[in-house]
Amino acid sequence: MKIGMLTGGGDCPGLNAVIRAVVRKGTFHYEDEFVGFMEGWRGLLEDKAMPLDLETVGGILPRGGTILRTSRTNPAKRPEGLQRCVENLKKYGCDALIAIGGDDTLSVAQKLFQNGVQVVGVPKTIDNDLAGTDFTFGFDTAVNVATGAIDRVHTTAEAHNRVIVVEVMGRDSGWIAIYSGVAGGADVILIPEVPFDIDKVAELIRQRHARGRYFSIVVAAEGAKFATTSEGSLVLQDLGKDEFGHERLGGIGNLLAREIEKRTGFETRSVVLGHIQRGGSPSSFDRVLATRYGLGAIDMVHRKEWGHMAALRGNKIVSVPLAEAIASNRKVDPELIEVANGILDKLVKDNEPAMKR
Ligand code: F6P
Repeated sequence: MKIGMLTGGGDCPGLNAVIRAVVRKGTFHYEDEFVGFMEGWRGLLEDKAMPLDLETVGGILPRGGTILRTSRTNPAKRPEGLQRCVENLKKYGCDALIAIGGDDTLSVAQKLFQNGVQVVGVPKTIDNDLAGTDFTFGFDTAVNVATGAIDRVHTTAEAHNRVIVVEVMGRDSGWIAIYSGVAGGADVILIPEVPFDIDKVAELIRQRHARGRYFSIVVAAEGAKFATTSEGSLVLQDLGKDEFGHERLGGIGNLLAREIEKRTGFETRSVVLGHIQRGGSPSSFDRVLATRYGLGAIDMVHRKEWGHMAALRGNKIVSVPLAEAIASNRKVDPELIEVANGILDKLVKDNEPAMKR
């Protein structure tokens, strides 16, 4: 078979591992040929392609980013966009397409599937917010980076008697915040799923310091929300929307630091981890998971499971409908919030932020 492949949306450690696994199994086991469409859906729209073979995927397993590059281009927002994608697939003689991406990329894959394209998806995002799968690849690496940063911030906060707020990514889900916050022993963890009251956050920090501690670490997801409306519900960078309608998040760390210092009188700093969480080499876990997803996807192509995505359920790679994956964002599991609560002083209930470890 001739198979097209693309990576869309924000990049993510492990993308190259998926590409490599697909090409190796497709070549060795199925005698497939491949073409890479570059820069996400833009490549398919604007006819930007590159060869993909054993040579081009050599040595890419540990590399971050994606050799196919990526973009947030949305063909459904361009004149005749979907039709142009279909035509370009025909032009390259592609029998099938493997789209590696998050909910945005896979929503376009679903539209193309509905337009008759033989497409299979692979779930990617550091945010781990895609429905239909237990874990997306890239998440483990992002959590490791954030946990390492929290460990480092601990020693400097302790040395200076400071409060330090660490802002992590995650869009509308708190997966990175809660995993890295628990792993890094944060004193307060703020996630979008549990809106917080800034006065209560300040009070928790004051109480902790009254017990003799002289520093605190707050981990805040970029999408964490104030329960009260005075400071606004979501902190945005006010830089407009991408082609899928997403606002650019960010800035909550600085805002929190200011408000905590104002309310407690404790010197407070903030650190925004930003794209450091997305760059660089994938963890061993992500290399293996991404490889398994790649192998799952090429097998699904040969089983003709069109309109489906490779997914992790338990410890098995299975096939789920794309429609299921894009239906909703996956929020942090309540059971995981209980884990955070278990090691913190108080339950994280609505309007009640997490407390000291
Ligand atoms: O979806 C992945 C993600 O890294 C989010 O966590 C974050 O909000 C967003 O992408 C950042 O996007 P960009 O790379 O366009 O700044």
